[in-house]
Amino acid sequence: MEKSGNDRLRLAVLLSGGGTTLQNLIDKIDQGKLDAKVVVVISSRHDAYGLVRAAHHNIPAHIVASKEYQQDWQQMSAKIDEVLAPYDPELIVLAGFMCHYLFSPKYRGRVMNIHPALIPAFCGAGWYGEKVHRAVLDYGVKVSGCTVHFADLEYDHGPIIVQRTVPVRDDDTVETLRKRVFEQECLDYPEAIQLFAEKRLNIEGRRVRILPRKR
Ligand code: GAR
Repeated sequence: MEKSGNDRLRLAVLLSGGGTTLQNLIDKIDQGKLDAKVVVVISSRHDAYGLVRAAHHNIPAHIVASKEYQQDWQQMSAKIDEVLAPYDPELIVLAGFMCHYLFSPKYRGRVMNIHPALIPAFCGAGWYGEKVHRAVLDYGVKVSGCTVHFADLEYDHGPIIVQRTVPVRDDDTVETLRKRVFEQECLDYPEAIQLFAEKRLNIEGRRVRILPRKR
């Protein structure tokens, strides 16, 4: 049964760019496929199109501009936590967020990231968007995909929740591969978030056990 507004998982979305991942989550929520609600968006850039998407859906949005922090991720993260606090998010979702979020201990196990490759390959600081797909093609691997994981304080490192694979074709370009991977991202992230909403994710060291659905 679909949940009412008050029972829905409260999501905070952090982004830096186009907000395609934010849009996917909004769409899945609108389609009744995700029992969640985006309560706030934070952008690290003033010109991120994700801010426009948030405005279209009447989602409160804030800017914590990375250029003001000059890679002092500790200071920037403290500011993010300060902005988040009044919204009381249950889960913080990194959605094309290009900064290193060093969240406070109270959010441990409550921050998720999506990466457009199969972690631990083609990931880490500075690995974002098209750069990832270019490296996949240049290396010549035959499969790529996407990964949703719990974030820890290392870049693209925490325990993996779900991964989906796609073939890399001989005639792929960055754009065709990006599109194929993104189609899977659109399934992966909502799936992981829904599992979290249903309290079915158990973190056991580096592994995440998916618990069976309660009857
Ligand atoms: C998504 O494909 C996501 O996997 C990727 O950015 C895209 C969304 O960006 N994230 C990363 O590469 C994180 N390392 P957008 O908001 O600009 O559309």
